[in-house]
Amino acid sequence: MRRSICALLIGLVPVIAYGAERPNWAFPVTDKVQPAVPQDDQPRTAPGSDKSYTQKQIDDLFNPPDWYPNMHPPMPQVVAHGNGTTVRACASCHLPTGTGHDESAYLAALPVSYFIRQMADFKSGDRKGSGTMTTIGKAITDDETHAAAAYFASLKPRPWIRVVETDTVPKTYVGPGNKRLRLPGGGTEPIGQRIVEIPENERVVLNRDPRIGFIAYVPKGSIAKGEALVTTGDSGKTLPCTVCHGQTLKGLADVPPIAGRQANYIVRQLFDFQDGTRAGPSATLMQPVVANLSDDDMLAIAAYTASLQP
Ligand code: HEC
Ligand code: HEC
Repeated sequence: MRRSICALLIGLVPVIAYGAERPNWAFPVTDKVQPAVPQDDQPRTAPGSDKSYTQKQIDDLFNPPDWYPNMHPPMPQVVAHGNGTTVRACASCHLPTGTGHDESAYLAALPVSYFIRQMADFKSGDRKGSGTMTTIGKAITDDETHAAAAYFASLKPRPWIRVVETDTVPKTYVGPGNKRLRLPGGGTEPIGQRIVEIPENERVVLNRDPRIGFIAYVPKGSIAKGEALVTTGDSGKTLPCTVCHGQTLKGLADVPPIAGRQANYIVRQLFDFQDGTRAGPSATLMQPVVANLSDDDMLAIAAYTASLQP
């Protein structure tokens, strides 16, 4: 009896390992071999801004650029500068406008109580999706968390992602800081079953300039397939998202908005809920939602939600 259970378990191992394989297009990790990209440290500027910063200053994660102070309310210290040691400035990755990059997250207009709960989950290990956020969650004080939560909740959501259905995409690579960028002189390739999310304007994104966001290239037919899953649950495969995330998916009470946010961020979260990287009491409501979703379903859902107004 025991032996047959063992045999059964051994038989299951490859299946489990396969099921848990992360779609690497949604979880970008800096490529070991980088293309030769010209480097310089000339001061950079941005249209309509009187600021100028060198790339080194732009990438100082305790002192990120604030190109357009008029685009947002005054930032609390922790958002603008972190704590100088263990907590980096939230604005460096999430931008002063909270709209963030493909590899981080869109924080503008997240409900305060949801935000505070996520910081607690990063700290406790219930949510493990980002090493940086775990470090920050452990080091940040309650006062700093509350200040950051109130700041990001006060920001107006802005359209940030343009979803394009296509058969071919520019060839890309993953540069420093897990940023997916166009491969210089790289031409195009078939999209396959992937979302390829890249900056509308690479220089703007590398400058941490919050004016312009991202293009999410998705396979043809994804948006309609995603809409069916999201609005009807597709004959019981999942639950209609609108029940909890609101009719327009812009959030309901402390259930977060999912409309108009980075497509790959949404895929990562669905995957993390499914494989337990994101667990704990607050995540249990999402468990029945993701239990039967395939990678392709998650792709379609994210293509649809990213195409909506945030
Ligand atoms: C070095 C980059 C970086 C910095 C600095 C950073 N974050 Fe993050 N943050 C991330 C990444 C990456 C994620 C996405 C994690 C994931 O995919 O699960 C994230 C996710 C989050 C989320 C979850 C959003 C959601 O919708 O659930 C919150 C909240 C958050 N960060 C708050 C903060 C705060 C507050 C600060 C500043 C004290 C901060 N972050 C600084 C990279 C960063
Ligand atoms: C029964 C209620 C319920 C339903 C139905 C539901 N959700 Fe959620 N969802 C939640 C809750 C609650 C959270 C917050 C979890 C937490 O606090 O960690 C959440 C979080 C999420 C997140 C993470 C957002 C972020 O900012 O990190 C995503 C993505 C998401 N849901 C997508 C979906 C999609 C897509 C559907 C439909 C296919 C759906 N949800 C259906 C309750 C629900």
